[in-house]
Amino acid sequence: MKTCLVTGGAGFIGSNFIRYTLKKHKDIQIINLDRLTYAGNLENLKEIENDLCYTFIRADICDREAVCRLFDAHDIDTVVHFAAESHVDRSISDPCEFIRTNVLGTAALLDAARRAWEKNGRYKPGKLFLHVSTDEVYGSLGETGYFTEETPLAPRSPYSASKAASDMMALAYFHTYGFPVLITRCSNNYGPYQFPEKLIPLMINNMLEGRPLPVYGDGKNIRDWLYVEDHCLAIDLAIQNGRIGQVYNIGGHNEKQNIEIVRLIIAALRDLLPSRDKRREHVDDSLIRFVEDRKGHDRRYAIDSSKTMRELGWVPETGFEEGIRYTIQWYLGNDEWLKHVTSGEYTSYYQKMYGKRGNAK
Ligand code: NAD
Ligand code: TYD
Repeated sequence: MKTCLVTGGAGFIGSNFIRYTLKKHKDIQIINLDRLTYAGNLENLKEIENDLCYTFIRADICDREAVCRLFDAHDIDTVVHFAAESHVDRSISDPCEFIRTNVLGTAALLDAARRAWEKNGRYKPGKLFLHVSTDEVYGSLGETGYFTEETPLAPRSPYSASKAASDMMALAYFHTYGFPVLITRCSNNYGPYQFPEKLIPLMINNMLEGRPLPVYGDGKNIRDWLYVEDHCLAIDLAIQNGRIGQVYNIGGHNEKQNIEIVRLIIAALRDLLPSRDKRREHVDDSLIRFVEDRKGHDRRYAIDSSKTMRELGWVPETGFEEGIRYTIQWYLGNDEWLKHVTSGEYTSYYQKMYGKRGNAK
């Protein structure tokens, strides 16, 4: 039985990863360590919260004592490190919080793992720290080309700068201490349980509420979209087959302009909403508003994941048409979840579940 520490497991990708892993592997214990910031939502994990292979611990990755205590109390084999401040717009208005969690928090976690796993200058066998990163560390592309693992880091937003710093720290641990770490860098994810501040769920939510759809700048910025479960699959394969000290790019070769995404969601939502549903009447292009551009807005991301496909045997399984349709259906079928998130009610779920003491088990 392996023990896997997932940080940030109450967020979008982390919660999908926990569900995915518990379904796929029967010989694993998962400890989810999450501070429960605005982005952490335990309702994301309702389906598995009573699973005997799952434990939740509320803690801040920057709290070195709490993190070291955790490593003392459990024989952790794998760390999958998702916890981060993840939204570029928020990083523009409050960069310091991104440095705290993404840089200092990652450093604290790396150090706790190193101390727990090292004995007489060697690491216990079978240990792995997987640092989850983003293609945004490579900066912005022009009209052609792809990010490979060799592309020099050139982050341009406070978010991507903080992620690049944490990537460098992870690689420094490999080179300096021989620490068993690897990095995955993924493109933009979409799918169930994504907080409606990011493009796709924000647009779905605004359409359902008849609110304007804010498209930054000319709407022609390009992102390379990947269905979240395909990201989870790549991480799972990286845990099994990845080489330490390596970086693996993950992306679905699915470049789309933001305005295309918005129009695609409008069309899919009109198709999926029953004709008698009143909300259908206002879902059309008239809701689109071109608004002031994001500061320093990266123009294009596109990722070359051939190394990941070759070395890890990864192949994305969900096409964009299918994934986006399923995602919209998920939001339509989970209006309670969406209501709780937009009203802020989800923040009281932790108290309801775990009382004042905090930890689940
Ligand atoms: P998210 O914002 O949905 O979730 C982040 C989680 O981390 C939340 O549960 C939050 O409570 C927790 N957290 C934040 N600060 C913490 C702290 N100090 N201590 C403990 N927990 C803390 O993020 P996401 O979209 O699920 O992204 C997860 C990871 O994947 C991030 O590292 C992000 O950089 C990376 N990533 C995201 C995308 C994407 O498209 N969303 C793409 C590539 C990489
Ligand atoms: P986002 O989902 O915030 O992800 P990231 O900035 O990490 O790529 O944004 C995706 C793209 O959509 C990005 O080019 C900014 C744009 N965008 C809008 O045009 N309007 C919005 O309301 C949001 C949130 C994003």
